[in-house]
Amino acid sequence: MEHYVVKGGNPLSGEVEIAGAKNAALAILAAAVMANEPVTIENVPDVSDIRAIVGAVTEIGAIVDHPDRHTYVINGAFIKNEPVDNASVRKIRGSYYLIGALLGKYKKAEVALPGGCNIGLRPIDQHIKGFRALGAEVQLAYHGRVSAEAEELIGSHIYMDVVSVGATINIIMAACMAKGNTIIENAAKEPHVVDLANFLNSMGARIRGAGTDVIRIKGVDRLHGTEYSIIPDQIEAGTYMYAAAATKGDVTITNVIPKHLECLTAKLIEMGCEVIESDDSVRIVATRRLEHTNVKTLPYPGFPTDMQPQISVLLGLSKGTSIVTESIFENRFKYTDELAKMGANVRVEGNTAIIDGVEQYTGAAINAPDLRAGAALVTAALAARGYSEIYDVHYIERGYEDFPEKLRSLGACIAKVDSDDEERRAINRFNFRVV
Ligand code: UD1
Repeated sequence: MEHYVVKGGNPLSGEVEIAGAKNAALAILAAAVMANEPVTIENVPDVSDIRAIVGAVTEIGAIVDHPDRHTYVINGAFIKNEPVDNASVRKIRGSYYLIGALLGKYKKAEVALPGGCNIGLRPIDQHIKGFRALGAEVQLAYHGRVSAEAEELIGSHIYMDVVSVGATINIIMAACMAKGNTIIENAAKEPHVVDLANFLNSMGARIRGAGTDVIRIKGVDRLHGTEYSIIPDQIEAGTYMYAAAATKGDVTITNVIPKHLECLTAKLIEMGCEVIESDDSVRIVATRRLEHTNVKTLPYPGFPTDMQPQISVLLGLSKGTSIVTESIFENRFKYTDELAKMGANVRVEGNTAIIDGVEQYTGAAINAPDLRAGAALVTAALAARGYSEIYDVHYIERGYEDFPEKLRSLGACIAKVDSDDEERRAINRFNFRVV
């Protein structure tokens, strides 16, 4: 079975370049079908979630060209707009963006319900509320698909009951081709909401206020082709920042927007790490054991839920007791059982983890329960004494481009193997000593 083998204990050091933001790319690749002209999207990360949305877009009839590893050209002129239900769509959560995109463009969409990481109940009531406010009839159709249809979409004033990234993006997409004006209140402010709005504006949409909690949209009749480059992935960047700190390393993370990383750097500084920022990079220097702190996940600009497992791994090695409160998804502490196998001292009570820091983790055989927790457990293995095996790495590959390769370039001993033989070879190559 495919898995990673890791020999821990090497401080990470050197420079690593961050790929484009996966969650922005998922929305933008779906929104690209709204034009009947070629749309060129650059800086798309090469990860399996992206291959799934590209598969979905191709299956609905968009013409997709892939001139290089990080660029796609999508032309939505020949889309059939039949029900969208295929293996690609069901694999990923981001495929629900096709509802907003197709509803906006054709006033009719029928898309299979989303998959994605099992990190808790993930309802889409706010998406549906938004589509209905724009005049669409929305229902659960055959085989668990969502069907949305309107004679005409009419701009509306929508107040979101919860701050939802997905619902904000989906409503923006439908509303930007509605008649008249839409106001979305209590909108999500995440960088990828802003990136999606900038992308649509470059296609001729008229969206103002993205990045604040009130977004105003003037509907337009058509969207045209464009060329657009996706922002860097702040969660990938954060993962390397925290891996550098966990291994007491010295790593410069390049191709980032430091502003998007502010709450992550603030926590590192609070814990005693040195953070040096420049225009498009951050350097993390950690020479000693870090101090404990408390963290609560919140919508942007609060601490991101997608970095909760990574900071918990770090706190598990810090001095004293830390409390981590997960306020976005209720099922996001599953990985703590795996971390406990490595010697972490974590007690979960409801949506809170109480972490008593230990001096060191020890290697173990562990399973990645989802994308971000999987990456966090690799970080723990890199900091641990001895040898670890990490299974179910397909979760990690949903969102991290070249993860083992990038870590190796920072001096980590990590290899992806698919058989006992490959594992033995990796152990020899890295001079692993099994403990
Ligand atoms: C997106 C990200 C995910 C990240 C999350 C929060 C993508 C593809 N995924 O997920 O990586 O962890 O934002 O930053 O971009 N909710 C409702 N009703 C809805 C929609 C959401 O109650 O209709 C709730 C959810 O259960 C959750 C909270 O709102 O408690 C936030 O969810 P949301 O921001 O929508 O997350 P996603 O867009 O699914």
